[in-house]
Amino acid sequence: MSAQKSPVDTTSSDKKAFTTPSFLEYKQVGKRIVVCTAYDYMQAQIVQAAGVDVILVGDSLGMTTLGHDSTLKVTMDDMLRATAAVAKGAPNSYIIADMPFMSYQHSKSEGMRNAAAFVAQAGAHAIKVEGASLETLVFIEAVVDAGIPVVGHLGLTPQSINQLGGYYTQAKETDEVVKLMTDVYDLISAGVSAIVLECVPAEVAAELREMYAIPTIGIGSGINCDGEVQVFHDLLGLSDFTPRHTKHYLKGAELLSNALAEYVQEVRTGTFPTDLQSVSIDQKIVKDARAESERDLFE
Ligand code: KIV
Repeated sequence: MSAQKSPVDTTSSDKKAFTTPSFLEYKQVGKRIVVCTAYDYMQAQIVQAAGVDVILVGDSLGMTTLGHDSTLKVTMDDMLRATAAVAKGAPNSYIIADMPFMSYQHSKSEGMRNAAAFVAQAGAHAIKVEGASLETLVFIEAVVDAGIPVVGHLGLTPQSINQLGGYYTQAKETDEVVKLMTDVYDLISAGVSAIVLECVPAEVAAELREMYAIPTIGIGSGINCDGEVQVFHDLLGLSDFTPRHTKHYLKGAELLSNALAEYVQEVRTGTFPTDLQSVSIDQKIVKDARAESERDLFE
């Protein structure tokens, strides 16, 4: 199938374009930042048309699109292809690409090359990295220094699932909250433009929002973040799994499946396609062609 024109106008918009300084500006004027994931061209068209501020090409692509059971198997190739498709589908949107598992931990130079590929090759405006280890902080500083904006990701960091032991709320005890507050400080010092806070208690998110000038983008962290990020498939009810932190704005899987069941039924009963989906020519052309080919074949 060729690239499709969106059923909605995705190009014209009165909205001022979101840029990296917008993260800070939105926080300063108390405007919440709306982020949604997308993983392909058409999803990006739909998300942009809905008016979200920022599109995240998350490594949740591993689960939503590739059928993996975690983000750990997602590769740079997977992410670059998805980011390039999203950038084409949402040319007026600010796009963050997730650095996949182990794409910057082997060496700083490999990480820099990968970060640059997201921006120069695929069309992302920023990258996102999980955690605040010393190596990660050094990497962030170098990337920001090279002119690539970075968004941090703390709390539940799915790439560390084997260390965390499960997808649980983080920072519930004092020492963990202290560590989170320190990590936020360190990420800001390293130069991040915003921080995704995944699955931390609402009270902790509220405190962090007050403590620091850099915006927090929550998921499963309550209303007191400076913005919210959610997964496309979760919002639209496309998966059978419903995390507690999401809301289905559509029964997508059910609606799509019912529509396709109607298609199955109509093909089987011979009611689709109709004349509306067909092209007609003069019947004489067909008759003449049949006579000619039968002469050629059988005489
Ligand atoms: O990969 C992703 O979709 C994410 C969001 C859940 C923040 O990292």
